[in-house]
Amino acid sequence: MDKQVILTGDRPTGPLHLGHYVGSLENRVKLQHAYNEYIIVADAQALTDNAENPEKIRANIMEVTLDYLAVGIDPLSATIFIQSLIPEIAELTMYYMNLVTLSRLQRNPTVKQEMRQRGFGSNIPVGFLVYPVSQAADITAFKANLVPVGADQLPMIEQTVEIVRRFNAVYKPILVEPEAMIPETIARLPGIDGQGKMGKSLGNAIFLGDSADDVQRKVKGMYTDPNHVRVQDPGKVDGNPVFTYLDAFCPESEKEKLALMKEHYQMGGLGDTIVKEYLNGILQDFLGPIRSRRAEFSKDPAGVMNILHQGTDRAREIAAQTLSEVRKAMGINYF
Ligand code: TRP
Repeated sequence: MDKQVILTGDRPTGPLHLGHYVGSLENRVKLQHAYNEYIIVADAQALTDNAENPEKIRANIMEVTLDYLAVGIDPLSATIFIQSLIPEIAELTMYYMNLVTLSRLQRNPTVKQEMRQRGFGSNIPVGFLVYPVSQAADITAFKANLVPVGADQLPMIEQTVEIVRRFNAVYKPILVEPEAMIPETIARLPGIDGQGKMGKSLGNAIFLGDSADDVQRKVKGMYTDPNHVRVQDPGKVDGNPVFTYLDAFCPESEKEKLALMKEHYQMGGLGDTIVKEYLNGILQDFLGPIRSRRAEFSKDPAGVMNILHQGTDRAREIAAQTLSEVRKAMGINYF
């Protein structure tokens, strides 16, 4: 039987961080052999709120691809490609836009939150509001069954499913309904400031390519339990980002030690400095090999671009096949 298909990806607006790893990268690496995996570098989506900065998007295509390769995405197993070089996705977006209402787009909770963050007010770029439709095109162009993403992307998958159902009902049932794959344990890693999620643009991220010194400095400055003032005070573990990170990155062999530390912290008598030093050690062990693989790949930018070029060629063939089925289902295959 043919392998099932995964499609997922990122906007190239900055390098990737630990939140991306926990939310999606880890699953992508795990599943790349069992599935036919496509990873989209969504430059056209990134432009929907960066129209004035195409050079920023261009530069970050390299950064994001280096992050993929550094965490262990194998370009022989997974197909990494650039969204804007697949014009079939843009054409699918045109047809899908007719199957979605404006009010439905305005209700998308992730888009709503992003609009608030960006302070668009009433000056919302149309492309930005519509990007969930283009994301549905990304996913359906590959007939993806599974989309490994962080929890914030759930509304996009829901909208995609609605578009697929509508298309299949109005025309012919040729599109595939995707399912989101969200990590069970920690769906969303908080920022080092404890303020909501870790975000590229929020200044609260530990990046996969950060130097050892940067990681140490960021861990030292992390938000903990604000009521844990003196060492002897009882501290809170739940909602304390230092412990959330430990839960996410602690290797199996350290789990017992971590459980004891949590008890100690909750009882009082365990200082934040010690817990942070412990976390720093664990993160350094985790990030060290990623950092050195990243440095290795970054010596050969032409080689990285070649991986993208080949991936894009492969991806385009699949998207073109789907588009031709779509046009046929709609009866607009004129000649
Ligand atoms: N919207 C995603 C993000 O902001 C990026 C993305 C674009 C994506 N197209 C996709 C994710 C298709 C999954 C599937 O991170």
